[in-house]
Amino acid sequence: MTSHTSDGGSVDFLPGPILLIGPPGVGKGTQAKMLVEQFGIPQISTGDLLREHRQRRTELGMLAESLMSQGELVPDDLVNDMVADRLAQPDCERGYILDGFPRTLPQADWLDRYTAADRVKESASSGRGASLAVYALSLVVPHDELLRRITGRRISPAGRIYNIYTNPPEVEGVCDVDGSRLEQRSDDTEAAFEKRMQEFSQKTGPAIEHYRALGSFIEVDGSAPVAQVTKAIFAAIHAFRAVVT
Ligand code: AP5
Repeated sequence: MTSHTSDGGSVDFLPGPILLIGPPGVGKGTQAKMLVEQFGIPQISTGDLLREHRQRRTELGMLAESLMSQGELVPDDLVNDMVADRLAQPDCERGYILDGFPRTLPQADWLDRYTAADRVKESASSGRGASLAVYALSLVVPHDELLRRITGRRISPAGRIYNIYTNPPEVEGVCDVDGSRLEQRSDDTEAAFEKRMQEFSQKTGPAIEHYRALGSFIEVDGSAPVAQVTKAIFAAIHAFRAVVT
C-alpha cells in the first residue's frame, strides 16, 4: 500500500500503530511530527489531549490540572476512555501514532485488548489485520540532557516546539512561523520534572518491559540531533517491519 505524505512524497507501506514511549523531554512530540509527515497518519498525544481538556475546563481537565502541574499521572481509566474516543475518529482508520501512551502497565493491557479487537475486525473486512503489528518505540536520553531540554523548551500556541538552547526562534520569545508569543509549560520546572521522572521509572518502566517481552519493541538513542534521531527511527521501523511481515 502506498501512503502519500503531506509534502507530496510517498512511502510504500503503512505501519501498524506506532507507540512513542520515553521520559519527559526525550523528543516524543518532536519525532511524532516527523512520523506524521512520513506516513500521513495522526499524532495522538495524551498530554496535548489533556491540556485541551484543561483549556475547555471539562471535568477531566479540572481533575487533571493539579496532577499534571505536580508531574503526576492522570488515572488510567480516565486516560483510556479519552484515548478510546480519539481512536474512534475516522482519521485513525489508516493508522496512528500514540505519543505518551501507554505509560502504565494497565494502559498497555488496555491497548493490547483494543488493538487485538481491531485486528480481528480488519482481518474480516480486508485480510490486512495480521500485518497491524504494534511498533513500540522507546527513546532514551541521559537525565541531565532531559532536564536541559525540559527547562529550555518553549511552545507556540499552535504547538510548534522550540528550545532556547538547541532550537531557538529567530526572535527571542516569538514563533518564527506565525509571530505568536512562545510559552513555557507549567510542568516544565525542575521540581515537576523530577516528579515526572520518578513516575516514569516506577510506572512506565513496567510498560516498557511488557513490550520488550512481547518482542514488539524498538529502542532508539534520542540524544543525537533531531534529524539523526528521525533517521534512526525510520531505519528501525523498516527493519522491524521486515521481521513482522
Ligand atoms: P506529556 O505532555 O506527554 O509530557 P511528557 O511525556 O513528560 O513529554 P514531554 O511533552 O515533556 O516531552 P517530549 O518527549 O514530547 O519532548 P519534546 O519533543 O517536546 O504529558 C504531560 C502530563 O500529562 C504527564 O506528566 C501526566 O500528568 C499527563 N499524562 C499524559 N499522558 C498520560 C498518560 N498516558 N497517562 C497518565 N497521565 C498522562 O522535546 C523536548 C525539548 O527538547 C524541546 O524543546 C525540543 O525542541 C528539544 N528536543 C527534542 N529532540 C531533541 C534532540 N534530538 N536534540 C536536541 N533537542 C531536542
